[in-house]
Amino acid sequence: MARLGFPEGFLWGAATAAHQVEGQNLNSDWWEFEHAEQTPCVEPSGDACDSWHRWPADMDLVSSLGLGAYRFSVEWSRIEPEEGEWSSATLEHYRQMCAGCHERAVVPVVTFNHFTIPRWLARRGGWEAPGAADAFARFCERTVSHIGDLVGWGCTINEPNIVSFMGYRFGIFPPAVADEGRSRKVSITLCNAHRMAVNALRSGPGDFPVGLTLSMADYQGAPGGEETLEAIRREAEDVFLEATEGDDFVGVQTYTRMRVGPDGPLRPEPGVARTQMGYEFWPQAIEATVRRATEMTGGLPVLVTENGIGTDDDAQRIEFVSGALEGVRRCIDDGIAVLGYFYWSLLDNFEWVLGYGPTFGLVEVDRHSFERRPKPSASWLGSVSRANGPEV
Ligand code: BGC
Repeated sequence: MARLGFPEGFLWGAATAAHQVEGQNLNSDWWEFEHAEQTPCVEPSGDACDSWHRWPADMDLVSSLGLGAYRFSVEWSRIEPEEGEWSSATLEHYRQMCAGCHERAVVPVVTFNHFTIPRWLARRGGWEAPGAADAFARFCERTVSHIGDLVGWGCTINEPNIVSFMGYRFGIFPPAVADEGRSRKVSITLCNAHRMAVNALRSGPGDFPVGLTLSMADYQGAPGGEETLEAIRREAEDVFLEATEGDDFVGVQTYTRMRVGPDGPLRPEPGVARTQMGYEFWPQAIEATVRRATEMTGGLPVLVTENGIGTDDDAQRIEFVSGALEGVRRCIDDGIAVLGYFYWSLLDNFEWVLGYGPTFGLVEVDRHSFERRPKPSASWLGSVSRANGPEV
């Protein structure tokens, strides 16, 4: 066995998102969506992992495992519960979280929007509301003025492509619109919101790298599928990658590959194992997407802000991450600036419409007592972090 060394200073971390772990996120569009009569959600988020109260325990886990960074999100609907009404107590809560990271020598990587928006904005039309991008920029400005000096890295919008496609094209996330034209416009709005947010985050205290995080797949053309692939990928990824011009980094988030034939995406290939999400088990995907993100952004540094697997077989999780890290290392060997790797997720948490079914966590969470039970993969990734690279 040999140790696959990573560059000095490489960030090893785990990620979560406010709505998926905090619990009782009542004032968000998702909460309302989960409780709507026709909701596609299999269950509501409820108390989630109760991380609103238990974040110190989560952070203790991150640091005791040996990870050096924690990616979490701040919740807009709590910070600005009604338009223009700001909650100082909530801002202070997130400031304490950033400080809590520093106390534990953990780098806080803060996401300013992870899928949820406040109900007041949803009522006005969500990302289609006039002034939505400005409202988001104002929120970023206000929040960063309170926590900016403690932020390690700033991510503006998590997976704007998923927000646009799942929310406005496929009708699976709020506001459940299924309209290509509207989704296209929302994509443009989200790109503008990102650009405005970059300026807002840079205007405040602190001097941290800023970027967006994008959901990317390892697109593979089946014979005759190349043109269709290009057309799909252009709208799903490229328009967003183009919006990163002037950013400090690009966050790559990858779970699987996507094969495309002449008529569109193909079903998983027979013989390839599938995860709880129904995705093909394809750890190699991250290498392809990191390379593509680098190419498309003219060489922006990459942070793998999410990579992971929903599985109840923890050994399969370790196999997945090992395979992924070999690919990341090949990218680094080729001179690509990959600066960190964040596993999704620290905790088993609320997986959006699929509720608590899929288990992505390094740590299991008891649904009643909220007790955290680290899985073997948690100490494994911790030891990878401590040694700055896995054994292969
Ligand atoms: C999202 C997470 C989600 C994960 C697993 C990403 O698309 O950012 O919120 O839980 O994938 O599906």
